[in-house]
Amino acid sequence: MEIKTVGVVGCGLMGSGVAEVVARRGYQVIVSEANDELLARGMDRVRASLSKAVSRGKATQEEMDGTLERIRGTVSLEDFASCDLIVEAVTEDMALKKEVFVALDGICPPQAILNSNTSCLCVTEMASVTGRGDKVLGLHFFNPVPVIKLLEIVRTILTSEETMATCRAFGESLGKTVVEAPDTPGFIVNRLLVPYLLNAIRLVEDQVATVEDIDQAMKLGTNVPMGPLTLSDFIGLDTMLHIADQMHDEFRDPLYAPPPLLKRMVLAGHLGRKTGKGFYDY
Ligand code: CAA
Repeated sequence: MEIKTVGVVGCGLMGSGVAEVVARRGYQVIVSEANDELLARGMDRVRASLSKAVSRGKATQEEMDGTLERIRGTVSLEDFASCDLIVEAVTEDMALKKEVFVALDGICPPQAILNSNTSCLCVTEMASVTGRGDKVLGLHFFNPVPVIKLLEIVRTILTSEETMATCRAFGESLGKTVVEAPDTPGFIVNRLLVPYLLNAIRLVEDQVATVEDIDQAMKLGTNVPMGPLTLSDFIGLDTMLHIADQMHDEFRDPLYAPPPLLKRMVLAGHLGRKTGKGFYDY
């Protein structure tokens, strides 16, 4: 199946990154938001990211202009009627995601593939509200989408081989390295990453070491770009809490239980970079 036009539902942090990367590779992109203000903010994010790519020599001004020309914004899902493949990137709320999948199933052509960019919710549950479970799977991009090379493609019990093959080829056409994961909570990366990040927060809670020393130890000791507490702030502590709650709910394993400190920081509005305060001040 040939993919020409790609729909992206949601132009937040992840949706705007997906729209940028897909348009950059020559696809026509239609990206939606709930209202004009959110759409304008999302498109500003795409422009800022592309400007950074140009200033760092990763793209030319012509490539940036061409990419922006290929992205069309909308506030109506009806405009997805011409899409061959759709990436859903709305808030991590199952009720909302199911609403989007029901709507897309009614609007999109019968052969169109519907993907979710969820990082922890059950993709099979989203597929179950459509009449095309064989054409639904997870496409899990990582933040920042234009920079991180990995793409997890998540197969549900219903996904067909043909859909998997089309999405693998699509992911590779974006310059991503694709790994296949089953539809289990956290897939591969978050199944390993989330307990590691939660354990780092437990070390802070138990006063084993300072925030700075924990980060330095892991950054220098394992050669990763960010220590676990910097990374938690980067992901967003509310997002971390949500993912941990979801995974704990499904596995009932204390490994995934959110530490009390995480819950309290979220309640206090210390969400990390996005609010200017988390384990660090920004
Ligand atoms: N297009 C192409 N390249 C771009 C770009 C764009 N729009 N924007 C930036 N880049 C390039 C830059 O040119 C730079 O390349 P060089 O190193 O070759 O110069 C590189 O990307 C890094 O850019 P920055 O200089 O802006 O950033 P940095 O060096 O300070 O690194 C970081 C920032 C990329 C975030 C890095 O610290 C990092 O990789 N951290 C780990 C992030 C991570 O783990 N993400 C996954 C989170 S988990 C998740 O997302 C899943 C989930 O479900 C929660």
